Amino acid sequence: MELFEAIHTRQTQGKVKPDALPKETIEKLLHAAVQAPNHHKVRPWRFVVLTGDGRKRLGDVMAASQADRKPDLPPEALDKTRSLPLRAPVVIAVGVDKPTEGKVLEIENVCAASAACQNILLAAHGLGLGAIWRTGEWARDAKVKEFLGFNPDQHIVGFIYVGYPEFVPDPPERPSFEDRTLWLEA
Ligand SMILES: Cc1cc2nc3c(=O)[nH]c(=O)nc-3n(C[C@H](O)[C@H](O)[C@H](O)COP(=O)(O)O)c2cc1C
Repeated sequence: MELFEAIHTRQTQGKVKPDALPKETIEKLLHAAVQAPNHHKVRPWRFVVLTGDGRKRLGDVMAASQADRKPDLPPEALDKTRSLPLRAPVVIAVGVDKPTEGKVLEIENVCAASAACQNILLAAHGLGLGAIWRTGEWARDAKVKEFLGFNPDQHIVGFIYVGYPEFVPDPPERPSFEDRTLWLEA
């Protein structure tokens, strides 16, 4: 797919088929992710790939954390939470390293990891897959971070859900850049 076509036709697809993806396909997405720019060559992105029962384990942790925080929630609500990671056959959690040197800024690490997320979305689109970038409260949940191997102060910038699309949607219509752009030409 041509680059500009990919950029312009990519769009979120939250509904995907449950069929598993080949590992090589997931690795293609990760290879694309790490082509993102990053300052000081720190490669601040960390990926946790959840498939199969790995997603179920994440759902269990999410439900347990929610039950701790909201003990009055009915079991149905917890079941719903537990099933959230099962919405796609692959969930890639993208975390960000905290800077360990003075010259490295956390905001720049977050920017780099976010660029990696966009690369995953574009690569998925190029491969004919459907994907959605999610965060929600789970990206800030201490127990979820612990389960994924992140420190409590590490940011999770996204959970990228990927799978074979249920359908191919019409091209997206997005607002243009004009009202978000200032030209300083002289
Ligand atoms: C950092 C980030 C977090 C997001 N979190 C969620 C989320 O938790 N749930 C959701 O439905 N959409 C979320 N979105 C929005 C979708 O990923 C998507 O961008 C939006 O629905 C617009 O669709 P489009 O990608 O086709 O333009 C998030 C987007 C970003 C950039």
